Amino acid sequence: MLACPVILECRDFVVALRDRIEAADVVWIGYSLHHLPATAKLVLMREIRTVVGNHGLFLVCEPASPDDEDRSGWLLRYERLNKPLWTALTPEEWGALMVHVRAADFPETNSRWHLLGHEAGFAEVREMFVAPDDLHRMYCFRA
Ligand SMILES: C[S@@+](CC[C@H](N)C(=O)[O-])C[C@H]1O[C@@H](n2cnc3c(N)ncnc32)[C@H](O)[C@@H]1O
Repeated sequence: MLACPVILECRDFVVALRDRIEAADVVWIGYSLHHLPATAKLVLMREIRTVVGNHGLFLVCEPASPDDEDRSGWLLRYERLNKPLWTALTPEEWGALMVHVRAADFPETNSRWHLLGHEAGFAEVREMFVAPDDLHRMYCFRA
């Protein structure tokens, strides 16, 4: 529970960021930025760089690959590692999930996450966490 006032806005975060004029100390995106391809990620990250200014933080936890893995390799590994574990899903439900993941998940390699951060104007990009299955990583970007 956050001990501060909260305003929740239900809208497209790309449009919400474009409209935003207030500064923020921290911008957090969890498992949503990966739905944008790299060029659109960069546009949004540049807007977030403006919002957090020179003293704020931008944090993400998102799908990521080691540098020698492309998107199709990540998708194969995602399916190979998760399918045996997600036993609560029926085969149809698993199939529907994979249709979504194949169509809408755009992981970036570790180097590419760093590059996106620098190209967005963040001088510092820190990798905070690597998931044990190496499918997801958390990064902290600051000016
Ligand atoms: C994998 S889910 C993660 C949900 C939640 N952040 C979490 O960590 O449990 C991705 C979410 O991003 C939302 N999403 C994707 N693109 C979006 C956009 N442009 N604007 C707002 N939400 C978006 C989807 O609707 C979905 O709820």
